[in-house]
Amino acid sequence: MKSLISIQNVSKAFGKHKALNNVSLEIEKGEIFALLGPNGAGKTTLISAICGLCRQSSGDITVNSFNTVTHYKDTRNQIGLVPQELPLDGFESVYNSCQFSRGLFGLKDNRNHIENILKALSLFDKRDEQIFGLSGGMKRRLLIAKALAHEPKILFLDEPTAGVDVSLRRDIWKLIEDQKKIGVTIILTTHYIEEAEQLADRVGIINSGEIILVKEKNSLMSEFSKKTTFIRLSKQLQDHSFVKKNKNISVVENGMALKLIGINSESNELQVLVNLLSQKGIGFTEINTVDNSLEDIFLDLVKAK
Ligand SMILES: Nc1ncnc2c1ncn2[C@@H]1O[C@H](COP(=O)(O)OP(=O)(O)O)[C@@H](O)[C@H]1O
Ligand SMILES: [Mg+2]
Repeated sequence: MKSLISIQNVSKAFGKHKALNNVSLEIEKGEIFALLGPNGAGKTTLISAICGLCRQSSGDITVNSFNTVTHYKDTRNQIGLVPQELPLDGFESVYNSCQFSRGLFGLKDNRNHIENILKALSLFDKRDEQIFGLSGGMKRRLLIAKALAHEPKILFLDEPTAGVDVSLRRDIWKLIEDQKKIGVTIILTTHYIEEAEQLADRVGIINSGEIILVKEKNSLMSEFSKKTTFIRLSKQLQDHSFVKKNKNISVVENGMALKLIGINSESNELQVLVNLLSQKGIGFTEINTVDNSLEDIFLDLVKAK
């Protein structure tokens, strides 16, 4: 069966600059997909192409088998978009603004639905207030409410928690999880790695307009997660020769420590190394091991490109 969203060989050029370079990606129904990448990687451009806000230079995108260019209305109807920027009309009231968003999709007023969204986003008490009186965090919540006003089956959130405080971030995460529970497919972009780690079923990493990796989050974490071990030495290491042979070991802290990457806990590598050091009359003052986070994995991958 075809994926819910299918992106095939999509490129987008702005003048000579290729913002997207031959991107192919499948999004499955019901998943939370996190598109991770540094600033300028092409995240917003890719979302804009799927939502039909900009047209790709080449390649095809289908949403539920409808082509986003030839069947724009059919694809757009299914999508709610929480944009990265804040395009709001300040004089409109909160309720009316949501109602307007719903109306754009030709749907009848549904006071109950909109009030429920406003309640879930703690905006119900503000429903009759004008938008320009809202705080930044409330405006961001309103963007989410507007995106949900027409009961979309697919929700895009473009950097939903950039610049928001911790408590609002938690509220937004909860809302995303609640939407998933009612069957909504969610695609979010972020350069905030903890967000992907927290929410995503699958993670795609984009850099310089190219998708460099797509993986289940859990297998990404276990496949790439490596332990890094630091051995702090009792005196400075003068002779580096035995370390140079092993690319997973490096001398750091001006010869006062060794850094070991990916030491397998079942092997005796650590013991062998400690023995070697002791033959040279060097002891250790501390050994500590840290787990690599998704952040380390991400930085390694982007650097390797
Ligand atoms: N309308 C535009 N005109 C020209 N260049 C653009 C336009 N939109 C985006 N770009 C460029 O395309 C690249 C990708 O941008 P964008 O998709 O916004 O990245 P991201 O959302 O990952 O930060 C950037 O180099 C950006 O400067
Ligand atoms: Mg962006």
